[in-house]
Amino acid sequence: AADDGYRLWLKYDLIRDAGPRRQYQQVAQFISVGGQSATLKAAAEELQTGLQGLLGQSVPVLSDAKGRKGGIVLQVDAAAADKAGLGPDGYRIYADKQNLIITGRRDVAVLYGAFALLRHVTTRQPLSGLSISSVPKIRHRLLNHWDNPNGTVERGYAGSSIWKWYELPEVVDPRYRDYARANASVGINGAVLNNVNASPRLLTAEYLPKVAAVAGVLRPYGIRVYLSVFWAAPKVLGGLPTADPLDPQVQQWWKAKTDEIYRIIPDFGGFLVKANSEGEPGPQDYGRHHADGANMLATALGTHDGLVMWRAFVYKADPKGDRFKAASEEFLPLDGKFQPKVLVQVKNGPIDFQAREPFHPLFGAMPRTPLMLEVQLTQEYLGFATHAVYLAPLIKECLDSDTYAQGKGSTVARVVDGSVDKHSVSGMAGVANIGADRNWTGHPIGQANWYAFGRLAWDHALDSKAIAAEWARQTLTTDPAAVQTIADLLQQTRSIYVRYTTPLGLHHIMGEGIHYGPQPWLERSARPDWTAIYYHRADSVGLGFDRTAKGSNALALYKPEVQNLWGNAQTIAPDYLLWFHHVPWRQRLSTGRTLWDELCTRYYSGADSVRWLQRQWAAVQPSVDPALHADVAARLQTQHKEALWWRDACVLYFQTYARRPLPAPLAPPT
Ligand code: GCU
Repeated sequence: AADDGYRLWLKYDLIRDAGPRRQYQQVAQFISVGGQSATLKAAAEELQTGLQGLLGQSVPVLSDAKGRKGGIVLQVDAAAADKAGLGPDGYRIYADKQNLIITGRRDVAVLYGAFALLRHVTTRQPLSGLSISSVPKIRHRLLNHWDNPNGTVERGYAGSSIWKWYELPEVVDPRYRDYARANASVGINGAVLNNVNASPRLLTAEYLPKVAAVAGVLRPYGIRVYLSVFWAAPKVLGGLPTADPLDPQVQQWWKAKTDEIYRIIPDFGGFLVKANSEGEPGPQDYGRHHADGANMLATALGTHDGLVMWRAFVYKADPKGDRFKAASEEFLPLDGKFQPKVLVQVKNGPIDFQAREPFHPLFGAMPRTPLMLEVQLTQEYLGFATHAVYLAPLIKECLDSDTYAQGKGSTVARVVDGSVDKHSVSGMAGVANIGADRNWTGHPIGQANWYAFGRLAWDHALDSKAIAAEWARQTLTTDPAAVQTIADLLQQTRSIYVRYTTPLGLHHIMGEGIHYGPQPWLERSARPDWTAIYYHRADSVGLGFDRTAKGSNALALYKPEVQNLWGNAQTIAPDYLLWFHHVPWRQRLSTGRTLWDELCTRYYSGADSVRWLQRQWAAVQPSVDPALHADVAARLQTQHKEALWWRDACVLYFQTYARRPLPAPLAPPT
């Protein structure tokens, strides 16, 4: 049957090569599980389904190995886990008395181990002498769904929402369980079910049982549900005259609401809040600050085991200001003012999920506040579900950036995992790219972004290309050469996308509102910081946003080492150049070309590189499912067409300022 992408990376297709299959068969003759919990049951079932698929033999699940050899033993062992430093979620897999033991402190750790073993077999790694242990570096690994109660998804390109609110709680779509399996397989342990531009409806007595029904399906897989909250809910739902966080009635309303939620969902994860941002209400409406709001909710949580994730995505429409600095202006003064249950959730960059951004200057600048990293998996500014853009290199670029907060090596990854400032709580959130399309993500390659996010939230030290290969091996093909080609190709996609859309540090020049395609000429918008000219600042002299001391001085938000790295237009990496400098068109760059020539060269080589992607993809055709291959090939055709659109629109537009011809090798033949 043609592969419709539904099974994601959990395919468990038969290992056709009899030699290796036999070796795996010998160590997978049974599964024994010494416990009855839903989570252990889920682990045993997954192993059974997976191994039966991979090995083509039935694998019984026993409650006790009773001295049998040649099987897999699932075993919770808190003492051993603590001794091995596995923490609550880490697992260990090892051979003992001719059985394979999967162990951890809690049931869910064993479940993670079961998925790891399946990944091990699916990627054909040897089992003899196996000894792996793995501990997540981040505690809270969440997907953020931007899903609305009416079934639409904000910035979603894979169909409507997977949450069928109108059918719930009576009808529980079996898909929720497959969603949970996929998440658990990569260690994701939380899901915010609704849009940050939140409808108050989710908090009503009508909707909470629906949320509880979803939570019931996700629970065995170690996934807790969270909700985005509408700040003015006490007004619209509670009929109060105010939503002031310091008002006792408001506080009482949230306390009662929180207790109500925990009565229905005892392991509820907590709240995600977008406040005083893009028109959303918030504590500032009452002259309070973000910490007043966050702390009020933390107090409402009281002794319940839940979190407040307060977003730092805020900016003001000040034509003379620099949006780059907005979050820092509002949040830096609040460092140390947040209660322990609060995490501040910060986007990877200071503007908004652009194809390339410098790391957000809040990272490393709020030592007394645990900061969560928020990345976007749905490709709002990265070509929706039409362009192939593998995001692990983007995420890694941010994680690996050095903030120098506590000296060299204070990477964003180490700020976020808590090690730089010694926080015991840590989190990473990915804005989900999941919808009701059969293949979940619209673009088949989008699945790799969901996968890679989970893997990196578990272990930010993993290599992005290795993750690509691992994903491709499980999802697309077992042919090692094809896997390599696909991993190489994926690894290049993001930098190719940057080249044909926003090279050299250009940003925010996309189509207004829709956020698709080029619109660098956008001069007027409802807000001054939503135009394109606000960001690129093209004029007859040059191009780029001067954020040095001569300009907005946003650079001063970074530590001196980072300022040194980016403060000089001669020495800054060209990839970041126009983020920080207004550069004359005729200026010669470190690449040897003038700015204008370099800009054109990147736009042209970027668009040409989509042809390269097409050729690479064509080369793996014999090894990939025909329907799936054709789907990606077709999307690459659109991508090429649109790369030319971006290239031509931007080069022609900027040429009206540069007033120079295309550099010789790019000029069309006369
Ligand atoms: C972007 C996006 C919005 C979203 C916002 C956010 O601006 O376009 O749709 O609501 O980010 O992250 O809150």
